Amino acid sequence: MRIILIGYGVVGQSLTQIFTQRRAELIKNYGFHPRVVAIVDRRGAAVNPKGLNLEKTLSLKAERNTVAAHHERGHPGMSALNVIENVDAETIVEATPTNIKDGEPGLSHIKTALKTGKHVVTTNKGPLALALPVLTELANYNKAYLKFSGTVGGGTPVLDLAKRCLMGDRILSIRGILNGTTNYILTEMDGRHITFEEALNNAQKLGYAEANPSMDVDGLDAACKLVIMANWIMNKRVTLKDVSIQGIRNVTLQALKEAAKRDCTIKLIGSINEKLKVAPTEISKQDPLCVGGVLNAVTFVSEFAGEETIVGRGAGGMETASAILRDLLDIKQNLATRLMS
Ligand SMILES: NC(=O)c1ccc[n+]([C@@H]2O[C@H](COP(=O)([O-])OP(=O)(O)OC[C@H]3O[C@@H](n4cnc5c(N)ncnc54)[C@H](OP(=O)(O)O)[C@@H]3O)[C@@H](O)[C@H]2O)c1
Repeated sequence: MRIILIGYGVVGQSLTQIFTQRRAELIKNYGFHPRVVAIVDRRGAAVNPKGLNLEKTLSLKAERNTVAAHHERGHPGMSALNVIENVDAETIVEATPTNIKDGEPGLSHIKTALKTGKHVVTTNKGPLALALPVLTELANYNKAYLKFSGTVGGGTPVLDLAKRCLMGDRILSIRGILNGTTNYILTEMDGRHITFEEALNNAQKLGYAEANPSMDVDGLDAACKLVIMANWIMNKRVTLKDVSIQGIRNVTLQALKEAAKRDCTIKLIGSINEKLKVAPTEISKQDPLCVGGVLNAVTFVSEFAGEETIVGRGAGGMETASAILRDLLDIKQNLATRLMS
């Protein structure tokens, strides 16, 4: 499979590390030969229709901070859109930063790829939270696959559990802890009796929270994931504006203390019932959702199987890259089935 990789940061580099480390196993176990024909970062692209040497692109990125510095294959200033339109490939992997104002640059990358009949695997929540119903239609119209396992739960197969493992059943409602950063902060506040500001500061020192923590602490990241789950799992045609969102800035030590008297704690819970909501919510410490630290947990309530909860690390470069790999293998298998029918 020829792959164009857009975005060569933590996730993009982790994916190429997996490709280099697992090459023989991927071929032997899955008949999967990933050939990365282009990589694009902010400063340009490296392109080789025969497949780039990924050890080299990794060391170039580490030493020169751009793949465009490749002395034979580098194209400084070449944009992702130019690459998507002009380089032959079956699939693009889109891993540029999330932007929930207008979804760019990821939204244009995904639209252009789908319009040119390329399959898309993305970990970028912004375009999906703003325009998933439209993107799904575009993918169907162009007979292209649009996959996004890594957008919810990092490497933990949250979307697949609901969509595949519970196939045939009807999911009635979903609730979960969808953001590791806020879960870490609330766990610290509750366990060590420190204020929100102190816990946020610790999270920033440990690299769990960004310098601008708004996406996490104001509930926006969790809301994006909720939109993706509502569309994909429950066939609701919703976008970010349909979610009622409240973050954790106003959770107090007093409120946590009161909750503890009832053997409860406060977690940032995203829920899908009649409505979509993200809000700090009191839950029992015995609830399977009540996980600590940076863990994520999601409970699906389905008509026949009842309640199932999946728990795992919700982020991380390698974890998220493993979700991309699952999506790529899935596309490969679907294409093989298409050919046979
Ligand atoms: N990291 C995680 O654990 C995780 C988990 C789940 C989902 N995600 C999502 O996955 C995506 C990637 O995350 P990340 O952690 O890898 O981010 P990152 O480390 O910031 O990397 C982003 C990459 O995108 C490139 N980029 C930015 N604008 C571009 C443009 N216009 N054209 C081409 N490339 C562009 C950057 O180029 P430069 O290198 O030149 O700056 C960089 O290589 C994000 O949407 C994130 O929300 C991440």
